[in-house]
Amino acid sequence: MLQTPPAASYATSLERNAALLAALDGLLAGERDAIANMANTAALLYGMLAELNWVGFYRWIGPWPGGELVVGPFQGKPACVRIAPGRGVCGTAAASRQTQLVPDVQAFEGHIACDPASRSELVVPLVRAQRVLGVLDLDSPRPGRFAAGDAQLLEEVARRLVAGCDWPA
Ligand code: SME
Repeated sequence: MLQTPPAASYATSLERNAALLAALDGLLAGERDAIANMANTAALLYGMLAELNWVGFYRWIGPWPGGELVVGPFQGKPACVRIAPGRGVCGTAAASRQTQLVPDVQAFEGHIACDPASRSELVVPLVRAQRVLGVLDLDSPRPGRFAAGDAQLLEEVARRLVAGCDWPA
């Protein structure tokens, strides 16, 4: 199985990002099962990005509108299972189809505290042909952990994952 060095071994974040995307391409090559690929992607991100306490996926289950987010593969502590669209950071990302970069979760109206250690959060929607397939959620115990460059990296991860999997109809 593919092994990748941890976050601390890279000289720059550019170098780390290139290694992360190459590793992701390796994981996705030859496998299109969405759950399997989300699971390996969560493990890859948790291992290669520093200062995270939770990283994983919520999947959109049901019709649009009328469905909800249900927790999928992740790394970290057990999390809340169902999130309605528009609720919390994840539900806001799904409803708006926009990345949510939250430097201070305590200042985000309606934030859902699954792990009380979380202080900042980045949520990227997984979208294909205008349809929300789910969200990728990263939590950090450090306030202000995520910058615009992290959002760009995770949006690229989301694009490759969306293209590299078969999703429920
Ligand atoms: N904080 C998220 C809930 C999911 S957990 O962080 C894993 C939210 O407000 O949507």
